Amino acid sequence: MATNLIDSLNARHGLDGALSFHEKAPGIAVAHVRAGGAEAEISLYGAQLLSLKVGGAPDLLYLSSRSLFAPGKAIRGGVPVCWPWFGPRSDRPDLPVHGFVRTAQWDFESAQTLPEGMRISLATSSTPETKALWPHDFRLRLEITIGRRARLDLVMSNPGAEAYSATCAFHPYFRVGDVSGVSVLGMEGTVFADRLPGGGEATQGGAVRIDSLTDRLYACPGVKRILDPRLGREIVTAQEGFPSTVVWNPWEEKARAMPDMGEGEYRSMICVEPARVGGDACLLEPGQSLRLGFGFWSE
Ligand code: BG6
Repeated sequence: MATNLIDSLNARHGLDGALSFHEKAPGIAVAHVRAGGAEAEISLYGAQLLSLKVGGAPDLLYLSSRSLFAPGKAIRGGVPVCWPWFGPRSDRPDLPVHGFVRTAQWDFESAQTLPEGMRISLATSSTPETKALWPHDFRLRLEITIGRRARLDLVMSNPGAEAYSATCAFHPYFRVGDVSGVSVLGMEGTVFADRLPGGGEATQGGAVRIDSLTDRLYACPGVKRILDPRLGREIVTAQEGFPSTVVWNPWEEKARAMPDMGEGEYRSMICVEPARVGGDACLLEPGQSLRLGFGFWSE
């Protein structure tokens, strides 16, 4: 990456002590934000929040010690954005899982100082390359609000002449002390689809506990509480416009087969992901926009 990109980001948007830009790896520019009692790192590649620390507490997010930071590869950890499809695309299994914006270079649009922290806006839009994968005109803006409560707003719009349909999710990797001791509250009594091969539907009894490979889609839009006795904290999540929630942990064997996951680190993470999939896909007519929101914080 030309250092003059970093220099021009710092010259245009840098704010002494509050916002600065660095090159994390070749081709990967990150913004460091200090605002509202929090400290964050945001990758412009993928528009991915990588780290959020509040006070002296451990990071709210997990980032793999072996994550790749290379154009064309997804970053393992933080909060990836899955769009315009979630998971593998059934009609085109050859295309990247979770869409292509998590591996796109996003533009830094603006930084706004707010009473509660700072809002960073990043944007990306259709190009001939994206149209080869998904033949639609689109524009996406991600607003990331950094403060004691983090908030992500994904605003998608359709500047084209034809309607499009997109599925999507935020894919947060929350850092936990030991996933086997974690309970996730908020999904009791809701129906879930087991996304593992051969999985069917079932109803969640009590709290969600993880003791094996877990990949489930819950019909549950409400607030979730991730109780973590090892770190002595509770992470709360809230979602707007996402009717479902995916819970994922690769567990030991699958994690070992993932070259970008640090040894044993599956125990330090849990993904609780606001999702809009299947029959809930976002349908945008020409000229329409849609905003989806996600917040999380520690209590
Ligand atoms: C989850 C999916 O959201 O992401 C899983 O439910 C998937 O099926 C996981 O394995 C990780 O995906 P990736 O492409 O980031 O390794």
